[in-house]
Amino acid sequence: MKKLKKIATLFSALGALALTAAFIPENEKTGIAPTQQPANTNHYFSIQKQSKQTQGEAKTVRYDLTAGIFNWEIAPGKTVEAWGYNRQVPGPVLKARKGDTLVVRLTNTLPEPTTIHWHGLRIPSQMDGTEEVQKAVMPGETFEYKFVLPDAGTYWYHPHTNETVQMERGLYGAIIVEDENDPLTDGDRLFLVDDMKLTAKNEFKKPGWFLPRWMERHDGREGETLLVNGKENPIIEMAAGQTERWRFVNTSSARYFLLHLGGKAFKIIGTDGGLLERPRVDTQLLITPGERFDLAVGPFEAGETVRIESLPFDRGTGKAKRELFATVQAGAAKTSVANIPDMFQPVPSLAEPNAPANRHIKLHGKRNWTDGVDFTINDEMHLHDQPVRSGELQVWEITNPSMLDHPFHLHGFFFQLLEENGQAPAFKAWKDTYNVPRKGSIKIAWMPDERTGKWMYHCHILEHAAAGMMAHFEVVDKDTPIEKKIAQRGHHH
Ligand code: C2O
Ligand code: CU
Repeated sequence: MKKLKKIATLFSALGALALTAAFIPENEKTGIAPTQQPANTNHYFSIQKQSKQTQGEAKTVRYDLTAGIFNWEIAPGKTVEAWGYNRQVPGPVLKARKGDTLVVRLTNTLPEPTTIHWHGLRIPSQMDGTEEVQKAVMPGETFEYKFVLPDAGTYWYHPHTNETVQMERGLYGAIIVEDENDPLTDGDRLFLVDDMKLTAKNEFKKPGWFLPRWMERHDGREGETLLVNGKENPIIEMAAGQTERWRFVNTSSARYFLLHLGGKAFKIIGTDGGLLERPRVDTQLLITPGERFDLAVGPFEAGETVRIESLPFDRGTGKAKRELFATVQAGAAKTSVANIPDMFQPVPSLAEPNAPANRHIKLHGKRNWTDGVDFTINDEMHLHDQPVRSGELQVWEITNPSMLDHPFHLHGFFFQLLEENGQAPAFKAWKDTYNVPRKGSIKIAWMPDERTGKWMYHCHILEHAAAGMMAHFEVVDKDTPIEKKIAQRGHHH
């Protein structure tokens, strides 16, 4: 723990220097390769704001990401053979401003193909990083992703190939898109919440005989090793008297994270699609796999210790335990410049809560005598769902008659929750991932725009998606006759 503490302190001290040097966005013309992060640093615990100079006109921000295998120390003396980007877990924070063009060159040095999906970004279908829209990047190959960042907020990136292995081992990272409307805070930190299932020798544990294998497929994989930003039980130093922006991302395979800061109130200021209409005060918050929440946290008093925990939550697997993820220690006080306004931005309603659904989606499972269970959408594994037309409002009712909760994720578009178990939600927000409670339902609304092409939606419990709870569909031009397309495909069952 000492070493980690040292690293965290070092970062607050060196701060600007080290971090901006490594992460100054480069102009497209220079073509200089970004600096590689040393393997042991972890800049997630304290994020540098982009300098004033980088504000103003849109620019091109370039990163090189190399997916590879390396030893990663999750705690002093505890090392795993990780798969990650640029020899760090999580991979580098990709930072840009709204309207910038992000160019990421992915080089694959893994022994198997990979891709990068940009979770939450409203980018063209061709750049979505699934194997529906691109050929997977083979070992030794390089692929360039390039797109404009249309929305400010907290996003993340991860492979969309063999996810249950690649993401479990550490292939994921955060994306921060800044904006001049961001509230002023004294600091900015990321908390990428994850777990690993390890053996006593710190090797990735694979279920051996059929029962654990069945259970892992059914429940999703949860491990005993709890991580924040690739570190077990980190201690984070923070000055007293400060209000900071803490960005939480649940990057785990299946673990539901019911955030609790020792009972202290925090403000929820944003979620998947950016800022809320107004801050909401709470003391706990459910963050399911794939979801993001931005909080305004603090101020704390000098000498105070705050435990970042997950409270017990039963998602149908019954295993509910209260667990510690990280500890924050408040040091000497600093003056605050933070200003969290009462209003952020309007979130215009797409539809009324009672709007009739024009699509029904059923998340369920069925027995499979080889693997224990298959997961289905409308009774099919890896469903090929009907297309939707650009500009036609979608109101989807998603029912879950199964015994497990499922975090529903839609690629490429934000939706609004209209109802959960028949009740209107407490607040409006732009979401791309939302929990569908077991024996329950949600209703969502979203608007397909002109970004035609192939998209998908799925459960973000990685084992469930792999076991079939995944659907492919297309956004087609507004004049495309849909009925014909379906008849040609012959997808009537
Ligand atoms: Cu975060 Cu289809 O995924
Ligand atoms: Cu699921």
